[in-house]
Amino acid sequence: MKFSKVEPAYISNHGCRLVWEGVDEDDSDTVILNKNELDELVEILKKDISGTIPLEDGSSTILVNSDVTQFSFQDHRQLEADTFDLQKKVLEFVKIPHEPQYVHISSKEYYPSVSIRKEDTEERKNFTAKRTPQKPSLLQAILSPKSGKKNESLSESDVFRIFSTRRSTRKFSKDKVEDWKVDKILAAADTAPTAGNFQGLKIFYIKNKNTKHALVEAANKQPYVNAPVVLVFCMDPDRVKLKFPQDILDKFSLQDSTLAAAYAQIAAAGLGLSSIWIGMFDEKKVETILGTKLRPSSILCIGYPDKKRPPKSRRKLKELIEVIE
Ligand SMILES: Cc1cc2nc3c(=O)[nH]c(=O)nc-3n(C[C@H](O)[C@H](O)[C@H](O)COP(=O)(O)O)c2cc1C
Repeated sequence: MKFSKVEPAYISNHGCRLVWEGVDEDDSDTVILNKNELDELVEILKKDISGTIPLEDGSSTILVNSDVTQFSFQDHRQLEADTFDLQKKVLEFVKIPHEPQYVHISSKEYYPSVSIRKEDTEERKNFTAKRTPQKPSLLQAILSPKSGKKNESLSESDVFRIFSTRRSTRKFSKDKVEDWKVDKILAAADTAPTAGNFQGLKIFYIKNKNTKHALVEAANKQPYVNAPVVLVFCMDPDRVKLKFPQDILDKFSLQDSTLAAAYAQIAAAGLGLSSIWIGMFDEKKVETILGTKLRPSSILCIGYPDKKRPPKSRRKLKELIEVIE
């Protein structure tokens, strides 16, 4: 794993992403710095001195030494960069004005990865010759701190950052997930909207080892179901006291249960955890294992990822959305 490049942050013109690359696409690490952290790093690198920069989460640090710069994290192995290399790349990066038209999202890259096209390169000349100046993509526009009302700029730790950096994992580290984090995830699930606010769902929090093993079997032997935290989301249509046909009530409870799981998944990502959503399982087997008559809709397996991975690609927003005017 070698320090490779500095890229713009996803959601703002400030801050950056420091990228380490290994042998394949999955084998990469990215550290996201907010504006203040980048400013502090630049200050130290410009002065050619040693120094320590505490990062946003309160426990991670960057230690700049004359030869090697160490990135230490509470929940991740330490990363290192040659200080001279880092200095060169970071100082070059901050020299470039990161205007939206210089940031191009290529359909071939993982989304929302961005790459900078430099003004003076052949690549850039060809790029501008072939295309008219680009407007920022829809995604960039939405994620930009400038979107929305003037005074409602987004902080780098807000939900949009979580959306744009979340990535499922099927390999969890053995680290225990702190109880307070599980509490927050469950509380977040409880904030999801439900039909008529009847909360047509139930969540099973599986702590028992044997039950986890049984769920692995019920889920087509997917081994990662035996995760540090396993939540089974079930539909409970009888809670939905609305005078509608049964199929609508069933649909409502499926949506209630799915939304709650989605909120839990986002909350987990916001807490530095990762997860895998499991939809492939034998419902009857899961019901028997849990001793319930409620239909399970999804199993959410959560833990610390063995390593941080960049988000996966998506089709273009334009292809996803059909506008009916
Ligand atoms: C409805 C649904 C069912 C899924 N079922 C499974 C599953 O049974 N096993 C699995 O490994 N992943 C499953 N996934 C996870 C997806 O494969 C994963 O979310 C997708 O590849 C996108 O990756 P990302 O979450 O990192 O963006 C499921 C996801 C959803 C939304």
